[in-house]
Amino acid sequence: MKILETERLFLRHFELSDIEYLYLLYSDPEVRRYFPEGTLTYAETKAEVEYYLKGHPNYPELGLWATIQKKTDQFIGRCGLLPWTIDGQDEVEVAYLLGKAYWGQGLGTEAAQGIRDHAFEDLGLSRLVCMIDEGNLASIQVAKKIGMSFEKESQDELGSFHLYAINRFEWKIA
Ligand SMILES: CC(C)(COP(=O)(O)OP(=O)(O)OC[C@H]1O[C@@H](n2cnc3c(N)ncnc32)[C@H](O)[C@@H]1OP(=O)(O)O)[C@@H](O)C(=O)NCCC(=O)NCCS
Repeated sequence: MKILETERLFLRHFELSDIEYLYLLYSDPEVRRYFPEGTLTYAETKAEVEYYLKGHPNYPELGLWATIQKKTDQFIGRCGLLPWTIDGQDEVEVAYLLGKAYWGQGLGTEAAQGIRDHAFEDLGLSRLVCMIDEGNLASIQVAKKIGMSFEKESQDELGSFHLYAINRFEWKIA
């Protein structure tokens, strides 16, 4: 099922055939450099794809989605919206991860912008966040380019991160 479309991308629910392509990305230490879990095994990748096949099991409008480059019909990454509880507050995170071959073309920003607009416009969410390792400059840039600003340092069971956020009333001004 298609979730949203941007100029160069469309995002859809995962299909089982995405596992191989996603594993190529999840087994790449550079792509997974700022994830506390590091690289994932094939079995872990398969479990994730299966978990999100129809969206997040508890919040079907959220989840991780296959990110497809329109002109080639290629699976180039996975992006989406994920529910978390951070410091006792329910939050929705804009998540983005692309294969290295696709970095530096504005595609990460384009996906994140599409997801932000979908979240505010179609889902009516009031706030979005990104949880980012302070060394992940590319991710910080993407968060800022979609109108987020640094809010605080926080931590969960996997370690500390910087929380970037945008509230609905700040949207469009960005
Ligand atoms: C984060 C990610 C999706 C960005 O994708 P991308 O398509 O390369 O990003 P964009 O081309 O839209 O670039 C966004 C901005 O970041 C900047 N940027 C990109 N890589 C950078 C780097 N390594 N260091 C500093 N800035 C960087 C770009 O210059 C651009 O800013 P500008 O328009 O002001 O020049 C990509 O790097 C990625 O998949 N990383 C691995 C997964 C990951 O860490 N995800 C985030 C987890 S919180």
